[in-house]
Formats: sequence, structure tokens, C-alpha cells
Amino acid sequence: MSGPLVLGIETSCDETGIGIVRGRTLLSNTIASSMDEHARYGGVVPEVAARAHLEALQPAIDAALAEAGVGLHELDAVAVTSGPGLAGALMVGVGAAKGLAVSLDKPLYAVNHLVGHIAADILTADSAPLEYPTIALLVSGGHTSLLHVRDLTTDVELLGETMDDAAGEAFDKVARLLSLPYPGGPEIDRAAVDGDPDAIRFPRGLSRASDLAAHRYDFSFSGLKTAVARWVERCEADGVEVPLADVAASFREAVVDVLVTKALAACADLGVPRLLLGGGVIANRRLREVALSRAEAAGVTVRIPPLSLCTDNGAMIAALAAELISSGRHPSTLAFGADSTLPV
Ligand code: KG4
Ligand code: ZN
Repeated sequence: MSGPLVLGIETSCDETGIGIVRGRTLLSNTIASSMDEHARYGGVVPEVAARAHLEALQPAIDAALAEAGVGLHELDAVAVTSGPGLAGALMVGVGAAKGLAVSLDKPLYAVNHLVGHIAADILTADSAPLEYPTIALLVSGGHTSLLHVRDLTTDVELLGETMDDAAGEAFDKVARLLSLPYPGGPEIDRAAVDGDPDAIRFPRGLSRASDLAAHRYDFSFSGLKTAVARWVERCEADGVEVPLADVAASFREAVVDVLVTKALAACADLGVPRLLLGGGVIANRRLREVALSRAEAAGVTVRIPPLSLCTDNGAMIAALAAELISSGRHPSTLAFGADSTLPV
């Protein structure tokens, strides 16, 4: 085991993630989620998330240090997500990281959350190192982004992102329309098991020829959500039961189709035969299945880190900082703040 010993802090959404790595080796990955507190609102409430981070941070840091078997003074650096994400939630992590780094007199690295998701791949035990270039598709409750990764530490380009809802958010909102609990992704996945994905042809956002010119790699899920709402309304008006399994399967198919089609279009256009998947929506069985089979047919290899590293976590933030340190990057000055729209 070699490389810098880094503690990473992730608080961009509803997960308080503390991870510790030594170089490319994962030592601990502690996650406290405030998801239950958001359940009754059907989505993440920023103020509730920020307050929950404040309460969860110290116990999560203690737990991560204990699991890794290291003391605070042994750390070589502290890393933190400075954006993008929920402003108040980010501020809690950034404040804690600055306090920790100053009091320990250790270097501090502010890192980008999306690039952190790509760095999760590094910690995947027993896999060959990430090869460049790679296309990365990151899908969660907070983001849906397609990136061209030429080098993790120096050259990551955002190709496209969602223009409205994130894919996970679309799952959560449609679940609500179907009277399913939050978080909606796993619920829809379950409800879709016996459904026919071709029963209803729901719209694929930004996929028409006229949209592709300006939005080839961008996503939109609000029209799809509205189409499901209309369907439910029509069933209610006609006094017939909503065919839950078919609606869930057809909705899921529309999301999966557009995600995989656009990711593989980027691979083909840019001549990149590698695709990395990340974010909590990767838990979706159909998404993994369709991505793997269509990628194989297109000659593209797919990498999917274990789910514990795909959902928001501090280990990926620590891993990215460890790479930055190893590549000679200087630490951040204390002048940085939380930036909810931080570009890659
Ligand atoms: O990355 P993540 O854990 O955290 C946040 O974005 O905060 O992603 C959570 C999102 C939620 O929107 C959830 O509904 C979605 O991922 N999700 C899924 C599945 N499991 C979780 N979406 C589709 N299918 C799933 N099986
Ligand atoms: Zn994320």
C-alpha cells in the first residue's frame, strides 16, 4: 500500500460521506444518509439535508477513522467536494474540511463532485486501471451528465447534461404520480418486473433530429414525466385502473433508452470504445442490462464500479485528491467556497 493518506468529505446532496484512502487503496467508506427525512416530501429538501450533514459529520469522521485504523494526525491531506450540488449542504462539508485542515495543519484539496464520481473507478478492487479516453455517464438524483475523460486530473470535458430533471429525480417524481414511495427508483424497478416495456411508447427527450443539432448529448425528462401524468389522468377519467407494471416498465425503458443511446452516440462520435457508468441510478437493473448488451454490440467496453462507490460517497473524493497529489497538484487555498454550479 502506497500513496498519500487522504480523508475525503462529501456533502453535496443528502449523503454525508467520509472516505479514507491510501493512494488507490480504499481504507474506509462511511455513509450517513438523510434520505428517510426527505421521504415524506418526495424529494431532497435542501435545508433538511444541510442540517443533517451538520449532525452526521463528526460521528461519520470518527467511524471512518476507526474503520481505517488511522488517526487524524496521520493524514497527509483533507479533501472536500466544493461543488456542484446543493449550496447549503456543500457549505457544511466545506466548512468542516477547512476547520479540519487548518487545525491539523494539513493540505486541503477542493474537488469537483462529478470528477469524483469518475475517480470511484480507481478504488474498484482487482480491476485494471482506467484507460483514456473514456466516456462517463453519471446518473443520480441530482445529476445526469455525459463526460469525455481524457485524463482524470487534467482533462475532463462535460459533453452534455440534463436541461431539467435528473434521471433519478424523474424516477422519484413518476413514482409519486404512481403513488409509490420515495425513493422512486427502486420502487419503479420492482413494479416494472412483470410489465411490458413496449406497452406504451413514452417520449425520448431531446432525441428528435431537430433537437439533436444543439442537444446531441443533453437530456430532458420533464416531457416524459408529463406524458406519464397524462396517462394516469386519462386512466382516472376513464375509470380504469392504471396498469402499473406496464407504465413502470415503459417509463423505465424510455429513460434507459435515451441514456444508453446518447452515451453510445458519444462513444461512436468521438471514437472512444470505453464507457464508465456512475451515480445511484446505476442500481437500475434494466439500465445495466441494456447498457451492457448494446455496448457489446457496438464494441464498447463498460465499467461499473460497485454500487457503494457509485452512489455519493467520500471515498471517491479522497481518491480524486490522492490522484491530484500524486500528479503534483498544489493544494487549494482557503479562499474557495461552496459552488453549487461548479464546472468540471
Ligand atoms: O447517487 P444517489 O444515491 O444520490 C443522490 O443523487 O442523492 O442517487 C439516488 C437516486 C434517487 O433518485 C433514486 O430514486 C435513484 O437514484 N435510484 C434508482 C434506483 N435506485 C436508486 N433509479 C432507478 N432505478 C433504481 N433501481
Ligand atoms: Zn453524485
